[in-house]
This record gives sequence, C-alpha cells and structure tokens, in this order.
Amino acid sequence: MTADKYLIEALGKHHGRSVFQCGTEELDRYLHQQAGQEERRNVAMPFVLTKPPVPDVIGYYTLSALGVDHEAWPLEIAKKLPRYPQMPVTLLGRLAVDSGHRGEGHGKRLLTDALYRSWQASRQIGSMAVVVEAIDQRARGFYEAFDFVAFPDQELRLYLPMATIAKAFTG
Ligand SMILES: CC(C)(COP(=O)(O)OP(=O)(O)OC[C@H]1O[C@@H](n2cnc3c(N)ncnc32)[C@H](O)[C@@H]1OP(=O)(O)O)[C@@H](O)C(=O)NCCC(=O)NCCS
Repeated sequence: MTADKYLIEALGKHHGRSVFQCGTEELDRYLHQQAGQEERRNVAMPFVLTKPPVPDVIGYYTLSALGVDHEAWPLEIAKKLPRYPQMPVTLLGRLAVDSGHRGEGHGKRLLTDALYRSWQASRQIGSMAVVVEAIDQRARGFYEAFDFVAFPDQELRLYLPMATIAKAFTG
C-alpha cells in the first residue's frame, strides 16, 4: 500500500531495522532479532512501513493464524457460533511505531493496512475476527479507539469482528 509516499510491504533484507526504537524493549528486540526468523519459519508475517527511498523501518506489524476457544467469546457471539472447540481468527500479534514518528498517523496507517490485509485473506481462508494482544493499558486504549473490544476476563486481548471490518471497507 502507498499513501503520502509511505510504503507498507513485507519485511525484506534491505529494510533498516537496527535503528528502530518504540520505547518497548520487547517490540524493538522482536524487530531487530526475531521478525526475519519468524517470517522464514512461517510463524508470523511481518509488514513494515518506510518512506522510500529511505529503507529504515518507521513502524511494523505482524499477522498470524490463531484459534480462539469457544468459551473465550462473549455469550452473545458464542451462541451464534458452531460448536467447534476453537474459532479461526487472524492475530495481529505486534504493532509498533518508532518513537521519533509518534502522532503522525502511522499507527492508524499500519492498523488500517493490517485490517485490510486480514479481511482480504479471510475471503479465501475463513477468519471471523482480528485479535490483538495489547502490550499494556495504553496500547489497549489505542485499539479501543478503533472499536476493538476486550474478551471477557482478558483485558489485554481484544477483537474486532471480520464482519465489522468488511463493512468498514465496503461501506
Ligand atoms: C500505539 C502506537 C502504535 C500508536 O502509534 P501512533 O503512530 O502514535 O498513532 P497515530 O498517530 O496513528 O494515532 C492514531 C489515533 O490513535 C490515537 N491514539 C494513539 N495512541 C492512543 C492511546 N494509547 N489511546 C487512545 N488513543 C490513542 C491517536 O490520538 C489518533 O487518534 P486520531 O486519529 O483521532 O487523531 C504507538 O504509540 C506505539 O508504537 N507504542 C508502543 C508500542 C505499542 O504500544 N504497540 C501497540 C500494541 S502491541
């Protein structure tokens, strides 16, 4: 996706990762050391935002497949689900923006791209929601601003139904 001359694409060898710092050590270390490995092992697919021709990563997110236990869903959703032990979702495992670029709309840009990509993929491989693991309460606030809802008794794990995402992109 290109917008305002920014580019979001799959993480590649040419991207500058070492300078990335978002203030959360775990998310920095993940991009510096783990993201490439997880991509090669098909565990998580990392996507990065840059402003070409500069290859340095301004922000990133990861997507993976996940199953969520039937019992984890709120009752009003659970009662409409088939009785499978787990329901398929898309996990937005990590999302972060470099500290020097906060408040410039990159978080929203990355999240929108992740939701669009997840929705597109769900038209070929079933997925009933996008689920996020917020790293702390501030991150939870960020996701709630985009209508994510926390699972009952799991305040840092939130979901947005794929039907809601589809509606947002189809109008
Ligand atoms: C959370 C994070 C990704 C936001 O990135 P950002 O580029 O500063 O966010 P944006 O500029 O795109 O802001 C988008 C909107 O979200 C809002 N927002 C940002 N952080 C928010 C928060 N903690 N709570 C509520 N709203 C928030 C902004 O006000 C903005 O609203 P607007 O569109 O009405 O103006 C960034 O602060 C970050 O990387 N934090 C550290 C890592 C992290 O917490 N990751 C998320 C969970 S793993």
